[in-house]
Amino acid sequence: MFKILKKKVLSPDVFHFDIEAPRIAKKAEPGQFIILRVDEDGERVPLTIADFDREKGTITLIFQAIGASTRLLAALNEGDSILDLVGPLGKKTHIEPDMGTIVCIGGGNGAAPVHPIARGMKEAGNHVISIMGAKTKDILIFEDEMNAASDEVIVTTDDGSYGIKGFVTTALQQIIDRGTEIAEVIAIGPVVMMRSVAEATRSYNIPTVVSLNPIMVDGTGMCGGCRVQVGDDTKFACVDGPEFDAHKVDFNGLMARQRMYKEQEKDAVE
Ligand code: FES
Repeated sequence: MFKILKKKVLSPDVFHFDIEAPRIAKKAEPGQFIILRVDEDGERVPLTIADFDREKGTITLIFQAIGASTRLLAALNEGDSILDLVGPLGKKTHIEPDMGTIVCIGGGNGAAPVHPIARGMKEAGNHVISIMGAKTKDILIFEDEMNAASDEVIVTTDDGSYGIKGFVTTALQQIIDRGTEIAEVIAIGPVVMMRSVAEATRSYNIPTVVSLNPIMVDGTGMCGGCRVQVGDDTKFACVDGPEFDAHKVDFNGLMARQRMYKEQEKDAVE
């Protein structure tokens, strides 16, 4: 059992949990994820690790309560426990010293999983520019954490209520236009956003990585549930990813697979 030590409500449907998981915290690296089950009948929910504290033995998970399982999770409180937590899973982010300027993009709740990557990149001696995008100011999350993990943070909101009015690609284009030499872009967020980022960097040949969060079941490469087409290869996000070359990912196929269980999810919620 994994005890919830801290619960915060970040915005109406978005929750922050600090969870006692010393063995996972000890091994967790930027880019990795866990799979949890709230109870015996619960479905397996993959969540990217938003933070980890090796000394305290805790990991931080940020999630949006949109489906039946995440609503059950959101109903838990400090002191309650989660039945299963498996991880860290997936490959860690490729981080090297002195790669240059890295642009870390977090769209919506993607700011949380991109946070340890930005921090890891900065700790390795890279110059980190982070772009955080939200629909409106009041649903922007992880701003303080991203400020601490980055050399520069640019916020965009769709409605202009904070930062630059526009999308994360608006800010990315500004960084490109001011002549910044970008060694790599890492983007995490809604699939449409990641696809737009991939299109924005393609013509400039800027290496771009996205972190995919498709439907997962076992998380060990056995079930095929998380398969995604990357160039000519069929990859399993749980063991080959979750990060892939954005210029090769078949985003349309990924979106079609994500829509496959919409009806069942609706029924489960109802
Ligand atoms: Fe089953 Fe990846 S979740 S193969």
